Amino acid sequence: MKKKHALLSLCILLCFWQCDSPKKEISHSTTAVLGLISQKAMVVSAREEASRIGSEIMQQGGNAFDAMVATEMALAVCYPNAGNLGGGGFMVYRTHRGEVGALDYREKAPLRANRDMYLDENKKYLQDKSKTGGLAVGVPGTIAGIFKAHKRFGSLPMQTILRPVILLAKNGFKITEKQAKQFNDYSAVFKQVNQENSIYTKKFKAGDVFKNEALANTLQQISDNGRSAFYQDEIAKTLVAYLQKNGGIISLKDLDNYQAIWREPIVFNYKDLRIISMSPPSSGGICMAQILKTTANYPIAQYGHNTTKTIQVLTEAQRRAYADRSHYLGDPDFIDIPVDSLLSDAYLKGRMDSFSFEGATPSKELTHGAISQAESTETTHYSIIDSYGNAIAVTTTLNASFGSKLYNKKLGFFLNNEMDDFSAKPGTPNLFGLIGGDANAIAPQKRMLSSMTPTLVEKDNKLWMTLGTPGGSTIITSVLQTILNVYEFNMSMQQAVDAPRFHHQWLPDIVKVEATSFDAKTIKELENKGYVVDYKNASSIGRVDAILVLSDGSLEGGADKRGDDTAVGF
Ligand code: DON
Repeated sequence: MKKKHALLSLCILLCFWQCDSPKKEISHSTTAVLGLISQKAMVVSAREEASRIGSEIMQQGGNAFDAMVATEMALAVCYPNAGNLGGGGFMVYRTHRGEVGALDYREKAPLRANRDMYLDENKKYLQDKSKTGGLAVGVPGTIAGIFKAHKRFGSLPMQTILRPVILLAKNGFKITEKQAKQFNDYSAVFKQVNQENSIYTKKFKAGDVFKNEALANTLQQISDNGRSAFYQDEIAKTLVAYLQKNGGIISLKDLDNYQAIWREPIVFNYKDLRIISMSPPSSGGICMAQILKTTANYPIAQYGHNTTKTIQVLTEAQRRAYADRSHYLGDPDFIDIPVDSLLSDAYLKGRMDSFSFEGATPSKELTHGAISQAESTETTHYSIIDSYGNAIAVTTTLNASFGSKLYNKKLGFFLNNEMDDFSAKPGTPNLFGLIGGDANAIAPQKRMLSSMTPTLVEKDNKLWMTLGTPGGSTIITSVLQTILNVYEFNMSMQQAVDAPRFHHQWLPDIVKVEATSFDAKTIKELENKGYVVDYKNASSIGRVDAILVLSDGSLEGGADKRGDDTAVGF
């Protein structure tokens, strides 16, 4: 054991020596300079099959919203750890006319949920109950989301859009190496939670063809009968009976009540960029606005990419934004959120009064700001631009990898464990170490606070970028670093997506950096200033999928090298 530790330390040390080379303009090494370039339209998603189906829908004349429906459902087939029918998500859009908006199809707490549902009689938090099995499941929103998007903006019939997806489920797709490992890693848990074998409890190897006949049937029913097939008819009945058998409390009434909601996105400026991102119940837009508006007061391009000073500015801005998140943010249909105050320049400037480049602000000495008014982990993101000039950014999730791990064999899909995104017990961290307060307490029909940050960026009043990522609490900081990488540090889209990332979220008071990606000198400097840097435990932070509109109007895809992510376009 000791030997192993010594070897590991040596490797880390060696790597730091190697990484500690003179700074180049871009500090990462082996990434492609440019991503895929297409002239008209593009989809970037976690799987080639999903990107291809979305792109083909656009080639048939469909728009970005038609492609959204196709890509979302294709991911449910070939990326089932996060793509889903049993989860929820958010879409931010910009039409070719420049109108912007957001769609919230986040899961909701069931009618029978209550504030203390994960506490025992001694108020002890029963951690497992909000993470695994029936009680962890929020009322799914994804099918409502695709129908709502399609009704307002779709141009092809739903049957046309779903046809290739149904064929994908029926005929199967080839499992990648990463995916084979992931399926195999989880198979014992699936068996244990579901108390039975399923197509997911077999042993897999890369290249195996994975077919899901049950999911093809479910999708066919949705294609034939529309939204009500999922929320009222046979699928709803099967789902409710199954969840109740597994300790869940979702009723037919919960499904029948579910509505996706159009929201006003959060819109703010960073220098000459106009950024459009997700509003509550996601914290993404507000937190990112706070962090970027704070960062705009410092010349980070001059400091350089991932240098000590740049990391300090971003870390301190992140620390303060996540402290506010924990206190002020939750479902806007249940609480008042002081959005204008939280984003005011004066407030944000005042928040940094306690910061000095000499040393870290300890999180224990910092809480949320005073506002003077009443007041794996797996997710997946895809970005689409069509040939008409419409753009969308969608992040969708089951929360943890494969959600609650409940898999209904008859329906062919997994159920989320999104209930864990509520603050089950104030002050107790959730799956992502996030601490929540009253604003995000559980209540019947309430939506749980999210970090998902689908985002569009305009420059000179024109569409410039669409992006987003999975990664739980690290989503917000990954998205904003990607924007800064292109805007401040002159990277291509692909380089910006691949560049090493770091993250701070107030509590725990740690700067998490991607292992082996940062040079030893920078880490040492940060440590000397009082930052606790974790450079061992995060093999990767986020998987950003993005598209950049280049100056000649062509599109550059940024498909994150950390996954099997792929750009497809024409
Ligand atoms: O909504 C949220 O913020 C989380 N449920 C997202 C989970 C996630 O990104 C996990 N992926 N790595």
